[in-house]
Amino acid sequence: MASLASTLLRSGRTKGWGCVRPHLRLGCPASSRLLYSTNSRLSHAVTTLLAPDLSYSQNVDHVGLVARHLEQDGILRITLGFRDDASRYLEGLIRSLHAHHGHRLPLAHSATRGWFWDVRPSFGATSSFQTAHHHQARSETMDEFPWHTDCSYEYPPPRYFALQVLRADRFGGGTLSVLSAARLGAHLDAATRATLMRGDAFRIAIPAEFVKDPAAPTAIRGRLLVADAQGRPGLIRFREDIVTPLDEAAAAALKALKAAIQHLAAQEHETMHFAAADLPAGSVILLDNRRWLHARNEVTDPERHLRRVRWDAAPFPGMEETTEELLTEAEQAEQAKVSDRKAA
Ligand SMILES: [Fe+2]
Repeated sequence: MASLASTLLRSGRTKGWGCVRPHLRLGCPASSRLLYSTNSRLSHAVTTLLAPDLSYSQNVDHVGLVARHLEQDGILRITLGFRDDASRYLEGLIRSLHAHHGHRLPLAHSATRGWFWDVRPSFGATSSFQTAHHHQARSETMDEFPWHTDCSYEYPPPRYFALQVLRADRFGGGTLSVLSAARLGAHLDAATRATLMRGDAFRIAIPAEFVKDPAAPTAIRGRLLVADAQGRPGLIRFREDIVTPLDEAAAAALKALKAAIQHLAAQEHETMHFAAADLPAGSVILLDNRRWLHARNEVTDPERHLRRVRWDAAPFPGMEETTEELLTEAEQAEQAKVSDRKAA
């Protein structure tokens, strides 16, 4: 029935947060945690929608709810009421979001994988293009992921990503944690924010495993923080191991940003954790990649298996005509020489 197309489950419920801190693995009280949105300090718990069958991926009401919650909160959980090993629901949902809500379609990872990427430990031979290039993507390891946004080295980066749980970690690892960029931006002082928003402040290297063409640029230059639609510093792109500050002020701002992330991540009421019990097999979590930082603690189950898709690549607001530009290796080498001369 069309009127029952989208069944809202547990909207506003605060139950379901996990109890594992990434990195620290400390226990935490099983109390409810609340979600901060970009609109107000205290908002509501993550909404969970039910998709009882595959047809919901094309149901106007259901797709409309997904679009609305992504726009409002930038985070949403969906429970599939059916087995979907081929991720046909997610594929249909994204096509519907494209058709009716203006979301740009994903880029295919490859001819064989299409839009989707299997996030699971890889031991030895795989068919991935990364191993073909002698590097392993982080998502193919059991390592923890520190706080980051996905594809921070891409211009433009994807606005959304979704993770479908095919097999949850049975041994307590692989907890996904999320932290609001708006809360982070509000926590920074004005000078730090201004530097993080400078278009010439940082170089972001493209990880070696994603450089497919040796002649292609290997880095981009740009800002880490951008104002949201309300003018507040609520959009971020960040992955610490590939960011290089290009001057002293940028170095200080980056240090302050990292300290703020660690500070907020340690606050129970600032961070949400999704352990296996919060995202069992058949769950999908969707995130606005610009409004939420995420992290993962170490995977403990070699059979943990998620499927990821990213879509709606879009420039950060206000950056379309700015100094965002690609740096070639030669330019980077020249820049390094200049820095060395200054330091000497
Ligand atoms: Fe990620």
